[in-house]
Amino acid sequence: MAYHGLMMPLAVYVFRRNKETGAPVTILEIGIDKGIGMFALLNNLNTFRASYRYYGVDIELLTGVREAVKYMIFHPDCWAGLREEDSLVYLKNDDKIYDVVLVDGDHSYETVSQECKMLPNRIHKDTLILFDDYYGGKHGGVKIAVDEFLQHNKHFKALNVRAGATRLPAELQSMTAPFEAPLAVGSPEVLDALSASVAVIEKNIVSNSGLP
Ligand SMILES: C[S@@+](CC[C@H](N)C(=O)[O-])C[C@H]1O[C@@H](n2cnc3c(N)ncnc32)[C@H](O)[C@@H]1O
Repeated sequence: MAYHGLMMPLAVYVFRRNKETGAPVTILEIGIDKGIGMFALLNNLNTFRASYRYYGVDIELLTGVREAVKYMIFHPDCWAGLREEDSLVYLKNDDKIYDVVLVDGDHSYETVSQECKMLPNRIHKDTLILFDDYYGGKHGGVKIAVDEFLQHNKHFKALNVRAGATRLPAELQSMTAPFEAPLAVGSPEVLDALSASVAVIEKNIVSNSGLP
C-alpha cells in the first residue's frame, strides 16, 4: 500500500489550510520515485487553485519525472522544485519550515530515525507529517523510528489513515491491514482537519478510474 489515495484528501486539507492562513502551504516530499503521489497531489492542488510550494527530494531522481514537471502549467502562486539528494543531506542543509511533510524514502530504521531526529527543526506545531509504510519497511523499522519520534515530541499525535489510503474495496482493506499502511502525525487539531478532508472525499468521490 502507499499513500497515493491520500493525495485527494491531502489536497483538500492543503486548500483549506491555504485559505485559513492566506499563505502558500509549504510541502516537502522525501522519496518521489515515479511521482505517482507527487503528480496526483500537484494536479489536485492546481485544480483547486491552492497556493503552495512543493519541494521533492529523491536520492535517485528519474529524468522523466523532472522532465514532466517542467512541462506542467502552474498558477503564479504555485511552485514545485525537485532535487536529487539523500534526504539526510537535504535535511541537514535545509533552512525551510514545512506545513506538510511526506516521508516515503528509504524505509530502514537507520534512515527514518535520522530523518525523525532532523524533522523537528523543519516543522512547526501545526505541521502534518505522513509516514508511508508505517507498518512496513525492513524489520518494522519505520514503526520503531516513528514511535520514538512520537515519544520525544509529545505535542504530536498519530492517526492511522489506512481508510483514506490507496483506494481498496473495504473487504480488501481489512485483509491487508495493517501492513504498509501510512500513519498521519500532527497536533489533534491538524489530525481532525485531515479526517474532515478524508470525509469530504469519501462523501464526494471525485476520483477517475481511468477505465474506458
Ligand atoms: C517508495 S518510493 C517513493 C514513492 C512515491 N512517494 C510515490 O508516491 O509513488 C521510495 C523512493 O525513495 C527514494 N529514496 C530511498 N532512499 C532515499 C534517501 N535516503 N533520500 C532520498 N530518497 C531516497 C528512492 O530512490 C525511491 O525513489
